[in-house]
Amino acid sequence: MRISLTVNGSGVNTSAGPDVLLVNLLRDTCGLTGAKVGCETGQCGACVVQVDGRSVKSCQMLAVQADGAEVTTIEGVAGGGLTALQEAIWAEHGAQCGYCTPGMTMSLLDLLEHEPTSDGPAIRAWLAGNMCRCTGYNAAVRAVQTVVKGMK
Ligand code: FES
Ligand code: FES
Repeated sequence: MRISLTVNGSGVNTSAGPDVLLVNLLRDTCGLTGAKVGCETGQCGACVVQVDGRSVKSCQMLAVQADGAEVTTIEGVAGGGLTALQEAIWAEHGAQCGYCTPGMTMSLLDLLEHEPTSDGPAIRAWLAGNMCRCTGYNAAVRAVQTVVKGMK
């Protein structure tokens, strides 16, 4: 099926079979490997991107379902530098192996955009769909709190 979508501000016109996942379209067709393939069952959150401004697990969405959508991946969020959230994650040592980091970042950018909060339990609840085997989440919580503080 022919599909047209916008990825990180650029038009993508391509074809995708009915079983192609959005994460695989992004990685294999668009060459954007920031979104990772972890579990492919909707558990780990390594594949999170934003579709029309909201975080989505791209292993749980077919490429054809993104026809006409605006998709943003980790490669598209920062222009020439890092976002305030990425700076804060860096400062808090919130990335170790980094496998979860793009997906976690895309989820947290959604939180900051739509429901900014410095409440630790609320941030942890938001991150329930993003698994990190390295950091224990404290650094991500502190990073969000730093950004929210800077928004005031
Ligand atoms: S790869 Fe999508 S949730 Fe794990
Ligand atoms: S930094 Fe390694 S899985 Fe999160």
